Amino acid sequence: MVEERIVSGMRQDIDGDIDVSLRPKTLDEYIGQTQVKENLRIFTEAALNRNEALDHVLLYGPPGLGKTTLANIIANEMKVGIRTTSGPAIERQGDLVALLTNLEPGDILFIDEIHRLRRPIEEVLYPAMEDGVVDIMIGKGPGARSVRLDLPPFTLVGATTRVGMLTSPLRDRFGVISRLEFYSEEDLKTIACRAASILQIAIDEAGALEIAKRARGTPRVANRLLKRVRDYAEVRADGIITNEVAKQALELFEVDELGLDRVDRDLLLTIVEKFAGGPVGVETLAAAINEEVDTIEDVYEPYLMQIGYLQRTPRGRVATARAYQHLGIPLPEGTRQEQLF
Ligand code: ADE
Repeated sequence: MVEERIVSGMRQDIDGDIDVSLRPKTLDEYIGQTQVKENLRIFTEAALNRNEALDHVLLYGPPGLGKTTLANIIANEMKVGIRTTSGPAIERQGDLVALLTNLEPGDILFIDEIHRLRRPIEEVLYPAMEDGVVDIMIGKGPGARSVRLDLPPFTLVGATTRVGMLTSPLRDRFGVISRLEFYSEEDLKTIACRAASILQIAIDEAGALEIAKRARGTPRVANRLLKRVRDYAEVRADGIITNEVAKQALELFEVDELGLDRVDRDLLLTIVEKFAGGPVGVETLAAAINEEVDTIEDVYEPYLMQIGYLQRTPRGRVATARAYQHLGIPLPEGTRQEQLF
């Protein structure tokens, strides 16, 4: 599947600028994730008072919920610099050593997709996080020797959509581990209104609510829907996003009342029609809908599970009774509801 989905939580090229211009800069500006925010407020304030670097922070959860935003907010609140990289971008141990040794005291090193760090690189992080040192090898062969370098105090902020893929030595070295949750409709509505005001988009409360309802708990999706609905409003209506305009636009873009698009419906329909409702293994499912297993697991499934349409069982994926209902397909004869929930 190469097509870019309007409702995907994954970052897309077109999001670059909006994501950055709309990104809140402080914890006060950040809407939602109350628990995570409160904790971070306490930890950053305490570290600031003690004049220390903040403990290492791991943020995890589905794409588009604000992990990168929070990393930048932490740097801002701590009044320190931030260096950003990602697991797959670090190819050699030396790349990571260079990043670490170039940090200023107190700086944040943000590693996105940290579960994709290769093992030898991850091993550089252990002593760096624990003891503030890195060991580098000088020379090769019998004359090679190891030299220990002291690092400035720093905070590693790691982000991942797959906390289960982190090795335990790495996970154990984070002092703060926070899970980001899907946002409520109310929070998404506030986020859409905030974005509309920054981008000078005319929208009313009911229009913002309609976008929030279809944003699958994800601010990045809400902001993307907002931009597309604005286009529709400007071309096919009088430029103002009302409830009616939002509904018409999103119907045209094939985003239904729950934020599901053709790809979600295709996935559910495949389970229901080709695999008798499941259970079906994720690899089989991936082949059937011509999609990658990782994308199914990281992008499609979290939301479908959150709304109770899909279950992951030890024997595979199962479509629930609610999914049947949403698709307008009667439950097969003799299916017990409790089998599906
Ligand atoms: N834009 C995207 N995510 C946001 C959030 N959590 N708070 C405010 N604005 C946002």
